[in-house]
Amino acid sequence: MSLSFEITRKPTPTSAAELQRIWADPGFGDYFTDHMVTIAYDRPQGWHDARVHPFGPITLQPHAAVLHYGQEIFEGLKAYRHPDGSVWLFQPERNAARFVTSAARLMMPALPVEDFLAAVTELVRIDKAWVPSAEAGEYSLYIRPFMYASEPFLGVRAAESVTFNVIASPVGPYFTGGVKPVDIWVTRKYSRAGRGGTGAAKCGGNYASSLIAQYEGDEHGCSQVLFADANTGTDLEELGGMNLFLVTRDNQLLTPELSGSILDGVTRGAILTVARDVGLTPVERRIGVAELYDGIGSGEIVEAFACGTAAVITPIGGFTDDDGPHPVGDGPVPATLAIRQAILDIQYGRAADKYGWMVPVV
Ligand SMILES: Cc1ncc(COP(=O)(O)O)c(C=O)c1O
Repeated sequence: MSLSFEITRKPTPTSAAELQRIWADPGFGDYFTDHMVTIAYDRPQGWHDARVHPFGPITLQPHAAVLHYGQEIFEGLKAYRHPDGSVWLFQPERNAARFVTSAARLMMPALPVEDFLAAVTELVRIDKAWVPSAEAGEYSLYIRPFMYASEPFLGVRAAESVTFNVIASPVGPYFTGGVKPVDIWVTRKYSRAGRGGTGAAKCGGNYASSLIAQYEGDEHGCSQVLFADANTGTDLEELGGMNLFLVTRDNQLLTPELSGSILDGVTRGAILTVARDVGLTPVERRIGVAELYDGIGSGEIVEAFACGTAAVITPIGGFTDDDGPHPVGDGPVPATLAIRQAILDIQYGRAADKYGWMVPVV
């Protein structure tokens, strides 16, 4: 049986004037809506006590397992306002399903897909005023479901009680300054995920371990880092928080195949589907780091881009490693922009949703 939510409204909701001020410069994750969702789980009761309540701090015992062993997973999806004022989610069932997969890998209880979707929908409904208007351009409400081992227990075992929350934040473009190409650092020193590890799960530890490579990239003027596979270091995998695509001279759209250590991105899946609509042939396969550099050098690879819910689709200007830069293409990125436009038009209701990806909320 699916959960029903007890709703406690914030006594003084954020005013329309304050929302206008926030939307003028929302940043990314700087402001949060008036409410949040909490659902508790323990062994005897299963999932219970589902609530929508005012946004506020979380209380944990100092010996809550998550604080010691990092048993935590999360998701990221967005709510989009369409020109008629309605609010929609993009393939939220894919996030719900990935949350189940991540939970299994981290030995956490599965939150049923319908309860995940209900939690997200309840929050977006109560805080619908926070979803930026369609005229604002690439603005949306970023939704962050997450779950952690809240059981106070210091032994190393799977927690028997966990907490699930959903919070939401109005956001503007992830990279400030419009659709500008980003430079990517290709780390040789660090790995993100190894064989049998947690790379395919969306768990906090993956991001904690990637930070050091991110800073290594910063030192070389790169805003994102690309990881190769941990076993051989020869195959491309993904960026710290985005999947990778390459466009070839003969209109192939290449992306590393899901290896078990790459996150199965929702945006990645959508791109593989719309590729043919913009005249590209999607190909998922192993792609060597050497193949990338050779292809860039020979002109075989003409465009590259990164994709994910937060940053949508961002052109890659070049890849840099210890041996120096490898700039991609000669300037224009028509295929990247065509794919970007195709996805954004569906998300913002400017094009027919021919794949049935959008789910109405309000
Ligand atoms: C490591 C990683 N890869 C890829 C992605 C892209 O996934 P999605 O398109 O589902 O946002 C993300 C973002 O969530 C990510 O964190």
